[in-house]
Amino acid sequence: MNTVVVGLQFGDEGKGKVVDAISSKYDIAVRFQGGPNAGHTVVVGGKRYKFHMLPAGIMGTGLGIIGNGCVVSPDKLMEEISEIFGDTMPNFKVSHRAHIILDVHVEMDGWEERMRSSKIGTTKRGIGPAYQDKVGRYGIRFQDLLAENVLEKKLENMKKRYEPYGLNFDVKEIKKKLLDFGRAMRERITDVSLLLNMEIKNGKSVLFEGAQGTLLDVDFGTYPFVTSSNTVAAQASVGSGVPITSIDNILGVAKAYITRVGQGPLPTEIEGEDAKKLRDAGGEYGTTTGRPRRVGWLDLPLLRYAAMINGVREIALTKIDVLGKMDEIYVCDKYIKEGVKYEYPPLDLNGVEPELVRFESWGNILENESVSDIPEVMEYIRFIEERTGIKVKMVSYGERRKDMEYIA
Ligand code: IMP
Repeated sequence: MNTVVVGLQFGDEGKGKVVDAISSKYDIAVRFQGGPNAGHTVVVGGKRYKFHMLPAGIMGTGLGIIGNGCVVSPDKLMEEISEIFGDTMPNFKVSHRAHIILDVHVEMDGWEERMRSSKIGTTKRGIGPAYQDKVGRYGIRFQDLLAENVLEKKLENMKKRYEPYGLNFDVKEIKKKLLDFGRAMRERITDVSLLLNMEIKNGKSVLFEGAQGTLLDVDFGTYPFVTSSNTVAAQASVGSGVPITSIDNILGVAKAYITRVGQGPLPTEIEGEDAKKLRDAGGEYGTTTGRPRRVGWLDLPLLRYAAMINGVREIALTKIDVLGKMDEIYVCDKYIKEGVKYEYPPLDLNGVEPELVRFESWGNILENESVSDIPEVMEYIRFIEERTGIKVKMVSYGERRKDMEYIA
């Protein structure tokens, strides 16, 4: 069984937690897009582990893979490994086709953001510029780190590309750094597509771990306030080289409310004291950047659309305990725009008004209490199921591994 776990909102849905809960049932965990803009938090034995580039599922599977759809920062990857695993190298492979994020990409990320009249609020990890160089055919791939001559030529080319911006690009210094990194990665740089297809043929199961969320997808998200990769489930195939016919299941992760970091539309956004209460209760501050997240009520028009595009059959609903801290709970079932009601987002989200449905709060969830026994929680869940047509399979109600329940 090969499963894709995908975010159904603007990222930060709690994918790390869900992946961690199911990863021990799989043999291999794969990241297939994005880079260190992601932040997947896993709490094991009271200790928090923050994954940015490696799949968080590596904790359960024992083998992690960074697919060709990813962009990787050498420094950030090494930092992450040492923070999580200390001196022992975890068991992972990286696609020879995955692209490298250079310092110049990080600089360009900041520069582009300053130039924009309408800011995106990127994570400033160089993601956009690295993908631009990939698509523009300037990019440095992992396989280039193993061939000095090729690397040098590509870096010379890159230097010319960035000359007009007046950015410092020391080919000799960058080459040395990348060759050192290449030597450290030599045993790990692999044709990941071949490896995964062979393993699947041998009966191994794969957990594909999406980063960011559907509404940040470069095609299907709230463009231009999106990330620079495709974040939808179909990308699991393109970003790892595993055919779509090998994917059996797609599990969508949604928070019981909605959050967003950075700019762009958020139709159900809450402001003022309620927003502060929800943000603080949920610890809604970025894993990667520490920025406060914008918060809002669960948005079903966006959720329906996201579930449809991904082909989600089951939802894992997270942070239900946090939503219970609010005195009153609302869900947006439809939008109203210019007198017309919408169950799916209209072409332009600007000017939509959420039509809200009110729910009774369930208050605190007690230790050893089963969420299935809390009528207010179940009313909320059944409403989501009924109004999206998708089963809520799992509910998460805390940080710890055990704070997760399967719903009948
Ligand atoms: P970038 O991916 O750094 O280019 O940022 C583009 C947009 O995606 C910004 O609004 C970021 O805040 C958002 N973003 C990128 N990665 C994540 C994530 O992992 N969680 C939530 N938002 C993200």
